[in-house]
Amino acid sequence: MNVSVDFCGIKFPNPTVVASGYLGVTGASLASCAKNGAGGVTAKTIFMDERPGHPNPTVVAFPGGLINAVGLCGEGIKNAKHEFEIYRDSAPDNPIIGSIGGKNLKELVEVAEIMDTYPVDMIELNFSCPNVDDEMGRPIACDPLMTAEATKAIRKVVKKPISVKLSPNVPDIGMIAKHAEMEGADAITAVNTMGPGMLIDPKLRRPILANKVGGVSGQALKPIAVRCVYDVYSAVQIPIIATGGVVNGNAALEMILAGGSLLGIGSAIMSNDMQCFTMIVDKIREYMEEEGFTDISELVGLAHEN
Ligand SMILES: Cc1cc2nc3c(=O)[nH]c(=O)nc-3n(C[C@H](O)[C@H](O)[C@H](O)COP(=O)(O)O)c2cc1C
Repeated sequence: MNVSVDFCGIKFPNPTVVASGYLGVTGASLASCAKNGAGGVTAKTIFMDERPGHPNPTVVAFPGGLINAVGLCGEGIKNAKHEFEIYRDSAPDNPIIGSIGGKNLKELVEVAEIMDTYPVDMIELNFSCPNVDDEMGRPIACDPLMTAEATKAIRKVVKKPISVKLSPNVPDIGMIAKHAEMEGADAITAVNTMGPGMLIDPKLRRPILANKVGGVSGQALKPIAVRCVYDVYSAVQIPIIATGGVVNGNAALEMILAGGSLLGIGSAIMSNDMQCFTMIVDKIREYMEEEGFTDISELVGLAHEN
């Protein structure tokens, strides 16, 4: 039974990929996910310069998943090169996706050019963080023309495959994906967090996150993410990294049947520890055996046929 995935010419030993933001850009931590069964990893979104992010508390669990307003903190791309080298040496068979952001299009293009020279297999363009509107305005992925313009500008300077990460917080995600595809995206990552949402502490009578609002991930996001992946699959020919609420084997199967070739996994790492990758891949294998499939690619998008 084959669960390996050829994604934009890159071989992933299985479809699970650590979603951007979990475990930062730290090479050793990301490599420990690969050692625990992740097919590949995505590093945290990185900007040109160091960013402090939002004040604590920034990540809070609730019964449906997580809400976060980390605010894209990080050390800046030039300081992070060695982390990608550490990862590459520690996990040579598990691809790594570098995720980039920028305060504006000029910075995005500059960061993309630098990331293209780093030892990453692919570059994810984070056009969709919902927690930094106050600083950067509406996410690029909320507007089809901005998505097209930014994809085109980055495509011009980057040789490696690029995946455009989209937001679920739009009326027609398929149309946005189409604009990315038209300007040269090789793949779509669907989706980033939903919202923003808010949790209030009744005792303190104020929002729990210091930033007041944050992006919702995990189980609460799953039905929205499945629909987004389904819509993107209908709209484009390029492959999808299906992300959002993949916390168990059933959710993984839903995402593959909706059209995901790879599965971005984030919140599950926090709730299930490192067991989530093997748990999910075992469940996919079990399903394939029971249902008579021999290659995981046979499952991708099957929900569209019925
Ligand atoms: C604490 C935290 C930090 C995140 N940081 C990033 C990030 O830096 N870049 C990005 O593209 N997405 C980021 N995300 C979004 C995840 O990559 C993912 O799209 C989202 O959490 C949905 O997947 P999940 O339900 O499996 O967590 C972050 C999410 C969380 C909870």
